[in-house]
Amino acid sequence: MARCFVTRELPGPALERLRAAHEVDLWEDSSPPPHEALLAGVAGAEGLLAMLTDSVDDELLAAPRLLAVSNYAVGTDNVDLAAATRRGIPIGNTPDVLTDATADLAVALMLAVARRIPEGERLVREGGWRTWTPTFMLGRDLHGARVGIVGPGRIGRAVARRLQGFGCAVDEAGRGDRGALHRVLAESDFVSLHLPLNAQTRGLIGEDELRRMRPTAFLINTARGPIVDQRALARALADGWIAGAALDVTDPEPLPAGDPLLEAPNLVVVPHVGSATHAAREAMAQRAVDNLLAGLAGEPMPSCVNPEVYGSG
Ligand code: DGY
Repeated sequence: MARCFVTRELPGPALERLRAAHEVDLWEDSSPPPHEALLAGVAGAEGLLAMLTDSVDDELLAAPRLLAVSNYAVGTDNVDLAAATRRGIPIGNTPDVLTDATADLAVALMLAVARRIPEGERLVREGGWRTWTPTFMLGRDLHGARVGIVGPGRIGRAVARRLQGFGCAVDEAGRGDRGALHRVLAESDFVSLHLPLNAQTRGLIGEDELRRMRPTAFLINTARGPIVDQRALARALADGWIAGAALDVTDPEPLPAGDPLLEAPNLVVVPHVGSATHAAREAMAQRAVDNLLAGLAGEPMPSCVNPEVYGSG
């Protein structure tokens, strides 16, 4: 029986499976453990089940007994992968099970910002709506629009499948393809980001990229906040370089009160809820536990982002 540090309560029954096999030390607070608490949690543990809000850095990975880390997210930008691989520690993640929920939210954000749904809802609640008029609260169509998917991986492709039902013309820009990115930025009515955060994608959408977009176009980000230069985005919205933006992710999360982005017009922002359905989050918990159980048993994790730790044999 190994000892596992789990940094947050998980939805559904998955943790019971982990408890049946190993001793589980659960961080019960709903706020992330401070780094010192993380270090203390892994000090005597063989397994770590971490959240995307936990920084799994080299200092943490140096915990003397640590054998396996399971990240409760598909993204692993919170993990020092090079250090983990160097130390022979497999890192698990949770792909596939959140693809559809996240793709649903990306489409919901497109509709929300283009049809001004949060703005209209606020207006009605605040008593600001007087009467129906032909020119009141006009938005833009998603059906028939040109949509650029930046990063056509699992989630990007799932968004594209949904948009077929809206009669959209979908274009794609693969990772690292600058030419395709510039084409997609210049020609799309909606640009939707579906890239992992890494050294190549940090700040990928900055002033130059935003200025390439149409003044009638919308930027959608359900990937990671730091992919977009938020100062440039605030200016793009304020000065009308683009028509609007809808963000599930920001940098930092949450945005502090008074952040210039929160003052920007035509911005829809929600609290990193792409995968936040009961089904997706329970399935993520099951996958995260499967990964940790396998890692602790010395077996390949079902979803491992650094399989090179298993060697060729
Ligand atoms: C992820 O998994 O990386 C999402 O951002 C949260 O589900």
